[in-house]
Amino acid sequence: MNNIVVLVSGGGTNLQALIDAEKRGEIKNGKITCVISSNPKAFALERAKTNNIPIVVINNHDYTDNKAYSKAILDELNKQKADLIVLAGFMIILDECVTKAYPYKIINVHPALIPSFCGEGFYGLRVHKAALEYGVKVSGATIHFVNEKADAGAIILQGTVDVANDETPETLQRKIMENVEWKLLPKAVSLFCEGRITVKDGKAYVDI
Ligand code: GAR
Repeated sequence: MNNIVVLVSGGGTNLQALIDAEKRGEIKNGKITCVISSNPKAFALERAKTNNIPIVVINNHDYTDNKAYSKAILDELNKQKADLIVLAGFMIILDECVTKAYPYKIINVHPALIPSFCGEGFYGLRVHKAALEYGVKVSGATIHFVNEKADAGAIILQGTVDVANDETPETLQRKIMENVEWKLLPKAVSLFCEGRITVKDGKAYVDI
């Protein structure tokens, strides 16, 4: 059984999708054993508590720089004996001390079709605002492994939605969450726990 540690910063709807999938028996060979939040006020923490999942708050404002913060996260991940780390709306780019310690064991959900609208500064509603300003006709979400570069790790799954003429960043965010993120994130987590994702030459392949 894989210990899944989920990192969050905000509302936690993706965490909820993982919890619901686990309850339905859809996360094969994996269990959410801990939720770590960068934000003590994150609603995601309430979702974890309601479901009796242990929580740990590691507040980024308590650390002088990203390296020190990342080291604290790394220590907690080691303590939790994490087999898989899921960044589910986690808004901090972790230092390489974490990514190097857990190669191909950290999964992120990004709310756009990588390599578009990604990298530093592209998070949350900003991503959807940028996509709409560009005038894209499809957008979506990407589930990918996390490496040393922001949003640049091997892509595991992607899904798309059509962009309507009257779309706002808020409606596009919701559409992508409902139709892509909440479905593909639990699916990727289960595929990982079942050992059905292989990596070759830096690319990820799903064993269908
Ligand atoms: C989600 O749309 C997620 O893809 C995005 O933030 C939202 C968090 O929602 N993540 C990023 O932008 C990370 N770069 P949630 O807290 O309700 O899961």
